[in-house]
Amino acid sequence: MQIVQELDPLRTAVAGLRRTGTLALVPTMGALHQGHLELVRTARERADTVAVSIFVNPRQFGAGEDLDAYPRQFERDCAMLEAEGVDLVWAPGVDQMYPPGYATNISVSGVSEGLCGGTRPGHFDGVATVVCKLFNQVRPDLAFFGEKDWQQLAVIRRMARDLDLVRPAADRILGVPTVREADGLAMSSRNAYLTESERAQAATLPAAMRAATAAIVAGTPIDDALDTLRRELVRGGFSAVDYAEVRDAASLEPIERLAERPARLLVAARIGRARLIDNMPLVVDPRTAPPHPAA
Ligand code: PAF
Repeated sequence: MQIVQELDPLRTAVAGLRRTGTLALVPTMGALHQGHLELVRTARERADTVAVSIFVNPRQFGAGEDLDAYPRQFERDCAMLEAEGVDLVWAPGVDQMYPPGYATNISVSGVSEGLCGGTRPGHFDGVATVVCKLFNQVRPDLAFFGEKDWQQLAVIRRMARDLDLVRPAADRILGVPTVREADGLAMSSRNAYLTESERAQAATLPAAMRAATAAIVAGTPIDDALDTLRRELVRGGFSAVDYAEVRDAASLEPIERLAERPARLLVAARIGRARLIDNMPLVVDPRTAPPHPAA
């Protein structure tokens, strides 16, 4: 496995990999867990060679957020990636990614508004900008992202479509289902912030979300189910709920009632030092769905 930290050797390494077939990229900020390894394994199944980027991107952290505290464990990450058969680790420094005089920002409207875009202003500009740069640097045929960051995936696909990216093309940007702990908590590098008791309480999040999705699908009005969900989270030890919303799964437009189009429950909530996010599908059986008022 090659570990590269500067652009010139990256170009040489990528050219070498490309000679052996298709190349997949798994962008990460390090602090790897089983969720990341699932992305790597999926990438290995789908492409001949796999590159993983490790870069804690300062532009996607707001003032007062956890940039300095974000877990960094580069040697451990590299050992995990080597064991998975990864071909290349791209680990640029901040100066390599944003050299003095750097002045360009990519801002994706629409899908980046509200949800995490509402509570973390500027976050998705930082994500879109760094991911576009990573795509241009590595020029992968395929790229893999976790569905835990559902809005992030929508922003990146929108950016790729709008900027006519070809490596990868928007339809080669693939989501991989969220990997969960035994109690249902979505795996996240930020779970490391939880104390033992907070970790136990954090399982309230997926449990309350599962209950809310089941209630909505069974006919409970969305607002009522979300009120119950917020109450459950606070009762379960969460200090604040940043948002709990049902949105169109693809466009991320708010929806007030379920129809035939796939919908998604998306939640962000705070417990201890951690802000946890999660999302789940609302699966409606079209045979029992109430008729759409416009039909
Ligand atoms: O999901 C992440 O880890 C980051 O947001 C990403 C996509 C690597 C961009 O920094």
